[in-house]
Amino acid sequence: MTTFLPTPSGWPSILLARRGEPDPTDLAAAVRAGAFGGLTTAVRELGPAATIATLEDARLRGRGGSGHLAAEKWRAAARTPAKARYVVANGYGADPAASTDRTLLETDPYAVIEGAAIAAFAIGAEEVHIAVRATATEAIRRLDAAIVAALEAGFIGEDALESGQRIEVTVRPLQGAYMLGEETVLLKALESRRGQPEQRPPHPSTRGLEGMPTLVQNVQTLALVPFILRRGAAAFLGVGDPAEPGTVLVEVRGPEASGIAEVPLGTPLRDVVALAGGAARGRKVKAVVVGGPAGGILPAGQLDTPYSFEGLRAAGAHVGSGSVVVADDRACVVDLARVLTRFCADEACGKTIPCRIGLRRLAEIGGRMTAGTSRAGDLQLLEDLSADVVGAALCDHERLATLPLLSGLRYFRAEVDAHLERGECPAGVCRPATLAPAAAGRTTPARQSRAQA
Ligand SMILES: Cc1cc2nc3c(=O)[nH]c(=O)nc-3n(C[C@H](O)[C@H](O)[C@H](O)COP(=O)(O)O)c2cc1C
Ligand code: SF4
Repeated sequence: MTTFLPTPSGWPSILLARRGEPDPTDLAAAVRAGAFGGLTTAVRELGPAATIATLEDARLRGRGGSGHLAAEKWRAAARTPAKARYVVANGYGADPAASTDRTLLETDPYAVIEGAAIAAFAIGAEEVHIAVRATATEAIRRLDAAIVAALEAGFIGEDALESGQRIEVTVRPLQGAYMLGEETVLLKALESRRGQPEQRPPHPSTRGLEGMPTLVQNVQTLALVPFILRRGAAAFLGVGDPAEPGTVLVEVRGPEASGIAEVPLGTPLRDVVALAGGAARGRKVKAVVVGGPAGGILPAGQLDTPYSFEGLRAAGAHVGSGSVVVADDRACVVDLARVLTRFCADEACGKTIPCRIGLRRLAEIGGRMTAGTSRAGDLQLLEDLSADVVGAALCDHERLATLPLLSGLRYFRAEVDAHLERGECPAGVCRPATLAPAAAGRTTPARQSRAQA
């Protein structure tokens, strides 16, 4: 059961506009609320080239984490000569702690189907594949029902909206590990091939599924497209930060509350954290993990950072999966970084040696720091390895996976030094507890649960 966090009045609602609808698959109700108005504008008024130009004017960026300009990919796919083109809606939701994409698919399946159909029309693709986790059974059920209704109404299908173009939409349930969300792995999974990332270029927009131009776009990105075409680029530019307009779904987890909210890009991180009530009563926010397992750990002093692609990037984090985890002053940042780095090392596919070995070594350094067994030179090794790992990146995982430790080093240097140089954990979380004088005699919930494990 999804919890939606209340947002301040005046915040726009595009992606979650249909939240609370008794039946999100009710096509008549969706059409009354504007569904398929964007597709109608694209087909009957704009045509493919002007549709892409409208997205460019709206400065729509991909919501799957990287923030690439959508129009650039659409144009590349449309211009590449080919006998077939494809659209892939990435709704896999790799981050196990974020259910934003699944929630969107459950809440407004028509927005994703319509956005994907507009993309298919604009680039000349006849097939749309909506990739979803096989375990997201309710999302799959609603998508299937919505596709049948949209087909019967003629919005998609053999002659979609009498455009003369066939647009066939299929739901593709997939199950795999974290890396499956990466676009080149996803494409291989859709072809039933073993998945490891591919070198780029060529990007999928010019060479993807079956070697054909394939537009891979996150489901939130696609769901924003109907709004832009219905209301115009100017209306979209008026939402959030004009440099990075629009909204994005965020899953905030805090000691007081957790849930999903739609946030205008550019909102100060402080206001995003406040959606979940901030720190526990009587506690202070110490750190915020932004972007998922390969996210950055930002200190309370960075709460004025704009929650946007460029704002977070400059601070050493990223939008990533849309996950925001609030840690209060009882948390140990080094331990947080260790857990995240370990996850990233375990999930790395192993194709690139600096990533396979480098992330493993970084996770070991994190492990030594929290066990009070750091070695001389570990700090230098951490910095050197991080630089090497990033420099040899074959996919974004490598670059992003170093963020937890690097941002920990950047913002919590005293805490890192205490672990590295004196084997102390100022928060009293890490083992062996006796090495932390401040923690002697205290048993934190984290230590208790580890002792029981
Ligand atoms: C390790 C890894 C996991 C990823 N997981 C997802 C995912 O679950 N969903 C997603 O949309 N993008 C994910 N991405 C990003 C995709 O590779 C791709 O950039 C995105 O789907 C493109 O859509 P967008 O331009 O709309 O953001 C992941 C990237 C990496 C490196
Ligand atoms: S960088 Fe890491 S995750 Fe990406 S392909 Fe190489 S080994 Fe796999």
